[in-house]
Amino acid sequence: MAESHTHSPINTQLGSKPLSNKRVLLGISAGIAAYKTPDLVRKLTELGAEVEVILTRNADQFVAPLALQAVSGRSVHNYAMTAESESGMGHIDLARWADVVLIAPATANTIARLCQGNADELLTTVCVATQAPLAVAPAMNQQMWQNAATQANMETLAKRGTFILGPDSGEQACGEVGPGRMLQPVDIAQRLAAHFQTGSLAGKNVMITAGPTWEAIDPVRGITNHSSGLMGYALAQAASEAGAKVTLVSGPTNLPFPERVTPVKVVSALEMHEAVLSNIEEQDVFIGVAAVADYRPVDSAEQKIKKNADTMTINMVKNPDILADVAAHDKRPLCVGFAAETNNVVDYARGKLERKKLDMIAANHVGNSETGFGTADNAITLITQDSVTELPKQNKYALARTLINEIATYLAKQS
Ligand code: PMT
Repeated sequence: MAESHTHSPINTQLGSKPLSNKRVLLGISAGIAAYKTPDLVRKLTELGAEVEVILTRNADQFVAPLALQAVSGRSVHNYAMTAESESGMGHIDLARWADVVLIAPATANTIARLCQGNADELLTTVCVATQAPLAVAPAMNQQMWQNAATQANMETLAKRGTFILGPDSGEQACGEVGPGRMLQPVDIAQRLAAHFQTGSLAGKNVMITAGPTWEAIDPVRGITNHSSGLMGYALAQAASEAGAKVTLVSGPTNLPFPERVTPVKVVSALEMHEAVLSNIEEQDVFIGVAAVADYRPVDSAEQKIKKNADTMTINMVKNPDILADVAAHDKRPLCVGFAAETNNVVDYARGKLERKKLDMIAANHVGNSETGFGTADNAITLITQDSVTELPKQNKYALARTLINEIATYLAKQS
């Protein structure tokens, strides 16, 4: 699980500052390695990141908040959630602000609390509230690192898609020798940059549809599906992090729009069609993730329908196919579709690729409880005219970054 201690080369595709446009929320927990964190903040900012710092309880015994404030250029948040702290940048604002939450050093106690989903102070609460990916750089005594509980907790974090940085091995502050030392700040910053790097979409316009549509039967009832919007929102965030100007056309969801994304809220398939087609000429890439209703009621009653009859028939009419209309447009962008399939996944998806004249289709394995509609994870097979790439089950945010990378590479080859 721990990584070997080698420097990861940073791809220079994004220029000399691979963390530019990235907001790193640095959580510092109470371990001796915290004394290295002003240097870590400097390394992160040198790579282009904006950094906000949260200290856990007692972390200020190991590092001076004033030093962190001086290097980050921002006031430092302590562990407490008070009326005063919440009136500034509160826990939800911090959770939305972050592109990545990095915890360094991550003590055994902090790691255990992350696994439990505790929300007992500011940092842990933000971790529960955020949709941003989590990275942890463990730092502790070698015996504590090798303890079965710590190892099981690390396994849990890794399974949830947490990016694990280190630990390093060697002489420890307590005089013992073994694994558990925090990686050097330069290694943490460089590996973080390399991990969150996607192919560049700088200067590109990307439009994404997400969520379900709602087809009204009357003012209080409608036909919809279980799409939560998470896959589309994760792609919007990943595309924005890759430098694109993103428009997210979303059906009804409970998700906050990612920062720096142009939000367009719609309800029905017809509204989504209108919102997409009226803006499509400016787009370089279109990604149809929304689970659009194929049919809508012919008429939507103006008043709530009374249950007088024993049976009820709803006449339905086909909705326009948004993705196919985009792909048939004179000034078509690169078109990426999704295909939610329960069986014959690749064959059915390939059929949609051909019929809708798409560049790529992400065949989505649905019909199980672990991937697809409303789940935290997803697994897809990415199909183009001449390639089939398996992207195995992982957190939707991690998957989104890989997919954006594939799209950026495809786009670069075309131009
Ligand atoms: O939102 P989540 O809970 O995270 O779940 C994600 C997801 C499972 C909804 C998503 O990953 C997914 O698979 N989306 C496509 C679901 C779907 O409805 O597929 P489809 O086979 O019906 O449609 C194929 C493609 O055509 C899709 O890109 C769809 O957006 C598009 N389409 C379909 C019908 C229509 N009228 N207009 C369209 O644009």
